[in-house]
Amino acid sequence: MKYNIKIHVGENVTIEEAQSGENLLDFIRRTCGNIETPCNGKGTCGKCRVKVSGLDTIPSEREKKLLGTEALANGYRLACYNTINSDLDIYCAVDKESGKAKILTESKQRDIALNPVITKKFMQLNPPALHDQAPDMERVAACSDSKVVNSIQFLRELPNALRQENFKTTFVYFDGELVSVEPGDTTRKIYGVAVDIGTTTVAGYLYDLNTGKRLDVYSILNPQGKFGADVLSRIDHTTKSEEGQKEINDAIIKCINEMIGHFAEKNNIKKTDIYAVVLAGNTTMMHFFLNLSAKNIAVSPFIPVTTYLSRFLAREVGININSSGYVVTLPCISGYVGADTVAAVLSSGMYESGKISLLLDIGTNGEIVLGSSKWMYCCSTAAGPAFEGANIRNGIGGVAGAIDRVYFKPEFRFTTIDNAKAVGICGSGLVDVVAGMLDSEIIDETGRIVTDDEAESLPEGLRERIKDIDGLRAFVLSKGNENASGMDIAITQKDVRELQNAKAAIAAGIKILIKHAGIKVEDIDKVYLAGGFGNYISIESAVKIGLIPKALKDKVESIGNAAGAGAVEGLLSRDMLMMTEEIKNRMKYIELSAIPEFVNEYVECMIFE
Ligand code: FES
Repeated sequence: MKYNIKIHVGENVTIEEAQSGENLLDFIRRTCGNIETPCNGKGTCGKCRVKVSGLDTIPSEREKKLLGTEALANGYRLACYNTINSDLDIYCAVDKESGKAKILTESKQRDIALNPVITKKFMQLNPPALHDQAPDMERVAACSDSKVVNSIQFLRELPNALRQENFKTTFVYFDGELVSVEPGDTTRKIYGVAVDIGTTTVAGYLYDLNTGKRLDVYSILNPQGKFGADVLSRIDHTTKSEEGQKEINDAIIKCINEMIGHFAEKNNIKKTDIYAVVLAGNTTMMHFFLNLSAKNIAVSPFIPVTTYLSRFLAREVGININSSGYVVTLPCISGYVGADTVAAVLSSGMYESGKISLLLDIGTNGEIVLGSSKWMYCCSTAAGPAFEGANIRNGIGGVAGAIDRVYFKPEFRFTTIDNAKAVGICGSGLVDVVAGMLDSEIIDETGRIVTDDEAESLPEGLRERIKDIDGLRAFVLSKGNENASGMDIAITQKDVRELQNAKAAIAAGIKILIKHAGIKVEDIDKVYLAGGFGNYISIESAVKIGLIPKALKDKVESIGNAAGAGAVEGLLSRDMLMMTEEIKNRMKYIELSAIPEFVNEYVECMIFE
């Protein structure tokens, strides 16, 4: 049996059919595609809330707990908890397009000498004759100044490649090894792609390897997101069934092939003229890309299959570029400090500075690197998903309508991404609002929100925003009738605690690295903030909540998608590619869970100073 489902987006209404018994979350993914599901339908995150009318089921206890009375009264239900057994009306706060996250692709770029690992050279070979009966392979080997790849495909393609243009040929080298012979002079056509596979987003860059010029940029949400927002949920998905591992691998391979197809079509080039793809990503993303089991990364002692700088024939890993082209995966450090961190260290330039730098890449895991040209320490700290808007009552990713900046002076106000009506609050907004609550004494140094009596001394514009929501003290940023979510957008006491946990994890990680290095915080000359969150947060607010030490306030530089920039450097320069290996070897990894004083530091860092 089929039902008609009306989907309301603002004034627009479309009707889609649903099969009886279809899960509401599956239906929304199929028809709207923009719903956040950090727990992948396990019923623990509460983010798949959707306003719906026509459901005849009574809200479950879990729904009551995750949604609260106000949301339930307003018709919100958890999509993953409900199935379709009647005609329904579904109300989406944002449409498919505006629900797309803003993806950071730009970064600080260094000038590096063009010296790619893939090169081409035009060669005019002597055609064979009765007095010169050398086999094709010997003829090629005699002209090539380097080793020839040992490949059956190379041998099979060689006779035609040589004769098609009467022995006018182009030799293609990968890292100095002859890997392909093309008919005629194709030296002007040689392209490469650098990719940063983030847990949330994927960013790709197309380069002309003759000129070093960037031709195009492409970014998209990581399609593995439907299997869980964080690496642990996705690893869990791969261990549940054999298909799980395949689904996760297929999703990223398809995504990168679509990116390559898009690059080729839009820039009027052939996919076969792309010979190299250089990839950065966290250790789990690299495993998923290579279809390696990541299950041992999820459990102590957190062991990856490999962390080496590696190269693979593109066709062997399913990437559609020239069939003799290669995929290069940058090296990782450990299970939780990946190739994205190595790439960020590379593009920041901190590895070649005589002065000490601190690099922070803050996400669900915060990767921290401290060091200089002489030494480097790194660690990864489980910040939890608060900075990405998960586990926060009205938390949301960086989509249109997300509250991204909050100001308390001269009066309370906020801005949203794309100036759209507010739908929730993203990480940068969360840091701002907690910093403002602290500064205005709405919370004390322990993070406790004031009682009604204590709030008496606050300005009226702030006092009226403090109330109880579902038994929790809360600070309301936007009332339900003013925003697109239809319910109060508020920061609850629990949200403040989530943020305290996250900032304490990062701050304690920084302290441990400083101790291990035997330096003082004042010795740090530069702080690099890498990644989307680091790019958008207010430095002042980050310092106010204690995420970044006060002493470093004036030394902070946001360097954007530094992992993507590092992958680009590896694509454009063999020297930079080799440098990633050198960075890996120089880096000393500190496992925080094995350091007893980390817990004490963490507890101390929970307090706002
Ligand atoms: S509670 Fe439904 S996806 Fe998390």
